[in-house]
Amino acid sequence: VLTHATIAHITAEPVSCDLQAKGAIAIDMGKIAWCGGMIELPDAYRNWPTENLEDRLVTPALIDCHSHIVFGGNRASEFEMRLEGASYQEISRAGGGIVSTVKATRAASEEALLADALTRVDALIREGVATLEIKSGYGLDVETELKMLRVARRIGQVRNIHVRTSFLGAHTVPPEYSGRGDDYLDQVCIPALRLAAEAGLADAVDGFCEDIAFSPAQIALVFDVARQIGLPVKLHAEQLSNLGGAKLAAQYGALSADHLEYLDEDGVQVMAEENMIAVLLPGAFYTLRETQLPPIDLFRKYRVPMAVATDCNPGSSPLASLLIAMNMACTLFRLTPDEALAGVTVNAARALGIAGRGNIAPGMQADLAIWNAAHPSELSYRIGFNCLHRRIWSGT
Ligand code: NIG
Ligand code: FE
Repeated sequence: VLTHATIAHITAEPVSCDLQAKGAIAIDMGKIAWCGGMIELPDAYRNWPTENLEDRLVTPALIDCHSHIVFGGNRASEFEMRLEGASYQEISRAGGGIVSTVKATRAASEEALLADALTRVDALIREGVATLEIKSGYGLDVETELKMLRVARRIGQVRNIHVRTSFLGAHTVPPEYSGRGDDYLDQVCIPALRLAAEAGLADAVDGFCEDIAFSPAQIALVFDVARQIGLPVKLHAEQLSNLGGAKLAAQYGALSADHLEYLDEDGVQVMAEENMIAVLLPGAFYTLRETQLPPIDLFRKYRVPMAVATDCNPGSSPLASLLIAMNMACTLFRLTPDEALAGVTVNAARALGIAGRGNIAPGMQADLAIWNAAHPSELSYRIGFNCLHRRIWSGT
């Protein structure tokens, strides 16, 4: 039984965060058995072992619902090129970008990919993250796509973290299929997706809908297969331009559309009708020095729940801090600190289609973050300052 806790109860739509002072949380068999005010603690729990939290803030453990955390190499040289004026799209069209990470990822052993990814995963864990989504998409051949997903699964075995995987074979067209995107989808991406699903390596299917990647019609070919095999979909949409990706995703009942800087009001309405989550990725907005803001006020107006994630990847968002993503969501996108917290807890769980995590209530998984803080706004306010006291994962 955790006692003397300041418990953050987060409600979505509209977002609010109610603080309960002098709270208690009883944990049994990895689940929250009871929570409420200390004085109301049922007798049954009174002689259980206790931990006095000395009024620290307790939130659900954090959920990073969009990452490409498994990859080979790095793209520091492209960072320098962009500082000299080259754009992300120019670098991509010149054969750099995602394709340069594909080369490094194909060349790396499974062990090397795992060891490298763990350095970043450990940084997230130190900040109270207990659930992490990981995408493939730097293989773009059957073997390497499966290798990435196996590494993602292994992360969940060697660390105390829940991993959800997304198959992202439709990330970009690899050089050997240059100019033949449809052939790539038909001969590589879709067969790889079927194999990944058969092997239980994919929990969802993602794509990158952009003129440097795939058109909505091409994404639809992949989503048709996802539907056939019963996997939920999500989409990188409207990041650099508006191709109608979010609308396409809505037609497939997508869990989320992600990025969304160029989404219009029509697209927001369609997302609302389909109960989709808007996943905001301020690390990519910051890194690419984007100036077009995602339509935050429209998300609020139409009650589209907003999640916030790192998008941790070597190109557009070399960010392994969900707390900094929260800070950026507030400072760059003007989310309230309560919205940022909902974005990495309850709404992030919805973006992954998982129940039982992302809030503090009886029956929920006992994944908690205990902070050396009194108020949730402190989590978003500081930059590069980790105030985690202790993380509880599955009750311990
Ligand atoms: O989420 N937008 C596409 N995919 C990644 C970037 C991948 C990369 O540049 O390596 C993203 O921004
Ligand atoms: Fe991404």
